[in-house]
Amino acid sequence: MKNTVVVGAQWGDEGKAKITDLLAEYADVIIRYQGGCNAGHTVVANNETYKFHLVPSGVLYKNKFCFIGAGTVIHPETFLKETQELIERGVDLSSLKISPLASITLPYHIDIDGISENNSGKNKIGTTKKGIGPTYSDKIGRYGLKVQDLYDEELLNERLDAVLPLKNKILEKVYGTKTYSKTEMIEYCKKYAEIFRPYICEDWVYKLSETLKQDKKVLFEGAQGIMLDIDYGTYPFVTSSNPIAGGAATGSGIGPTHIENVIGVTKAYVTRVGKGPFITELTDKTGELIRNIGGEFGTTTGRPRRCGWFDAVLSRYCVLVGGLTQMAITKIDVFNDFDELKVCNAYKDKRNGKIYKDYPTNINLHKYLEPVYETFKGWKQDISNAKSTDDLPENAVKYLKRLEELVGIPIKIVSVGPDREQTIILENPFK
Ligand code: GDP
Ligand code: IMO
Ligand code: MG
Repeated sequence: MKNTVVVGAQWGDEGKAKITDLLAEYADVIIRYQGGCNAGHTVVANNETYKFHLVPSGVLYKNKFCFIGAGTVIHPETFLKETQELIERGVDLSSLKISPLASITLPYHIDIDGISENNSGKNKIGTTKKGIGPTYSDKIGRYGLKVQDLYDEELLNERLDAVLPLKNKILEKVYGTKTYSKTEMIEYCKKYAEIFRPYICEDWVYKLSETLKQDKKVLFEGAQGIMLDIDYGTYPFVTSSNPIAGGAATGSGIGPTHIENVIGVTKAYVTRVGKGPFITELTDKTGELIRNIGGEFGTTTGRPRRCGWFDAVLSRYCVLVGGLTQMAITKIDVFNDFDELKVCNAYKDKRNGKIYKDYPTNINLHKYLEPVYETFKGWKQDISNAKSTDDLPENAVKYLKRLEELVGIPIKIVSVGPDREQTIILENPFK
């Protein structure tokens, strides 16, 4: 059993897609287990750049069973656009399947997310406005529609009768915006039922179980990151699903006993899009430099990402709640020209000097905390063509070794550029 979860171990955009694509070559099944089109996953391979939102990042390899699991939320229009574009680019989607139990993001979810964000003033979360929170709220509140519901007109009618008047009341009376008629919603659902039809995998539980019995290898692709987890992240500045590795089990329908490795993908620094606490954030020129060199602008929304130094306190927390067994460090090449780098190993309470070695989950405390840094010499050398650790300058190796010591788990992959080829694999979990 080598089944492996790739999980973001910061606030998203760590380079999960790059690592997923890389390892997908050695896997038989690739599963997206949570999130929706809030995800923006970039793969650079064969001189092409692909940006995935819903489709698993393993889809570029032929004949791999790529599965969008029950824990995801699917926005039909995004799914259509994304799959059409991939087909036009010659990507074979015959092995792409979706769970009939995945939830549907309907047009009113997008409206509600957008308008409530715009109306939130100081309390904005900075969501992607892709309807994620409202879709998951409806799922948990048992008001949602699942993919399978689109095929039963009687049931669809009943569900819309129950939910639509309520949604329309909110849209009209609270937000003062347009409402949806039942006829237009039925038409919408019927249209996308046909779009989804070739992709639906009714017997996915049994197919996956067979796969596991045959000792085939499953790769789980997380979206977002542990610090955006609805239960373990910086609530309420989080997404509405469970990106943590535990979410791979619930979101895919494969029990936790089948998971062996959890790779925490971690940038050599930290970024965050949207609001919420970020203790090592750099609001100065250094932060701007990291953003510009690292191209830190959102894949989904184009928003500038907030940037800061590597935070080992946060990473140690992610190891615990995410069950991480190893790290993949990405974007270390962004520091090629830096004279010095910093890593946070503790927080200090500005009020009384108290030192925190563990991440305080009460974010109300964070405004009092400042990072305690260790400083490292840069390597002032282009490492973006390094093929092994032997090609890395001494100071880069020192930096990586210290990150391992501070976080407490080994680094098994080092990414030195966006391309699939720009990677040092110290140990492949599938080999
Ligand atoms: P994801 O959401 O975790 O899959 O990450 P994103 O795709 O949103 O953002 C990561 C960005 O960094 C993408 O533009 C990648 O092409 C790029 N990237 C990934 N790894 C590296 C790396 O090692 N070095 C550099 N310079 N860019 C990288
Ligand atoms: P990938 O998979 C970075 C952030 C949003 C916002 C918060 C809630 O590409 O790493 P949501 O739309 O989910 O309700 O927004 O979560 N967020 C992400 N940040 N990468 C992502 O995905 C994200 N998906 C959501 O910016 O702060
Ligand atoms: Mg992203």
